[in-house]
Amino acid sequence: MNSNIEIKHIEKSKIDTVDFNNLPFGSVYSDHMLTCTFKDGKWQDAVVEPFAPISLDPSAKIFHYGQSIFEGMKAYKDADGNTLLFRPLDNCKRLNKSAERLVIPQIPEETFMNGLKALLKVDDAWIPTKEGSSLYIRPFMFASGNGFHASPADEYKFMICTAPSGAYFAGKVKVLIEEKYARAANGGVGFAKAGGNYAAQFYPTQLAIEKGYNQVIWTDDNTHEYIEEAGAMNIFIRINDTLITSPTNDRILDGITRKSIIQIAKDLGINVEVRKISVTEVIAAAKSGELKEMFGAGTAAVISPIAGFGFQENDYDLPELEKPYAALLKKTITDIQTNKAEDPYGWRVQL
Ligand code: PLP
Ligand code: COI
Repeated sequence: MNSNIEIKHIEKSKIDTVDFNNLPFGSVYSDHMLTCTFKDGKWQDAVVEPFAPISLDPSAKIFHYGQSIFEGMKAYKDADGNTLLFRPLDNCKRLNKSAERLVIPQIPEETFMNGLKALLKVDDAWIPTKEGSSLYIRPFMFASGNGFHASPADEYKFMICTAPSGAYFAGKVKVLIEEKYARAANGGVGFAKAGGNYAAQFYPTQLAIEKGYNQVIWTDDNTHEYIEEAGAMNIFIRINDTLITSPTNDRILDGITRKSIIQIAKDLGINVEVRKISVTEVIAAAKSGELKEMFGAGTAAVISPIAGFGFQENDYDLPELEKPYAALLKKTITDIQTNKAEDPYGWRVQL
């Protein structure tokens, strides 16, 4: 059991080179990273070491067969300087669900949590305090073992890197409802946070970006009639006063923000329906004026209001509301995450 975490401190921190008032998303990295190796049938001791490139054999199975999964989390500071995480065990459980599907060894919750805490302690100064910024945390696992045989590797890495980050989307979000390509299929790996799911999205997303949209909203692979989720977030649709989101299934990521928002919205007295929602229904509601809001929900995206969407050759704008649900829900969830509000469900974890 890897109960020991060796800490190798960086010689000179690069934190002074970072402008914490203008943080990009996920492209400035903190000083340290955590690495834990699975070999000889077990996880070895973890090490926190300076953030640096890693060396892999060209025949490592990650390169050839894509055994790679990841998570996305955030750390926040409250007004007293405490470090806070949001439902971190849910990320660990989902990582292990993804791991099972990709035949990657399970990471013990203790290794995940202790490793994360050790890393955050060493890089405490990297956790932003400015509103709207946070330390984005990227735990990931991949096949580092070698061989061209198309079978699971015998060696894996579990790593965590962190990046002080600002907003995921720079401006207004416009989405394209997809009717040709699919992100995931029944019986596939869509529910897992597998790297390949994101690679599969890049081409259709690139086509959408060329047409002026930011993200694709995926529809079911069979009929392309039902709304599923977006490239990096789950989707909520408000028709009149009702908030609707698709039930999760084999093809949709079971978002931690999504399930938190469903609970928070219900607690705020909003009528929430978790049910299939068709493109036909959304278009009809857009035409009749009953479509009030669409927004994405995810760790990176937080709550990202959607300003408009495209479907086939038509564009539909969403109205600008005085009191959108998106703003209320975003404030409520971020207040819980940053210790500005009560945490009735014990979602917040203080380090
Ligand atoms: N859907 C996809 C495809 C995602 O990549 C993400 C981000 O993690 C989400 C949904 C939202 O999940 P969560 O709220 O757990 O971050
Ligand atoms: C997250 O929200 O943490 C994600 O993993 C989405 C990612 C594609 C940026």
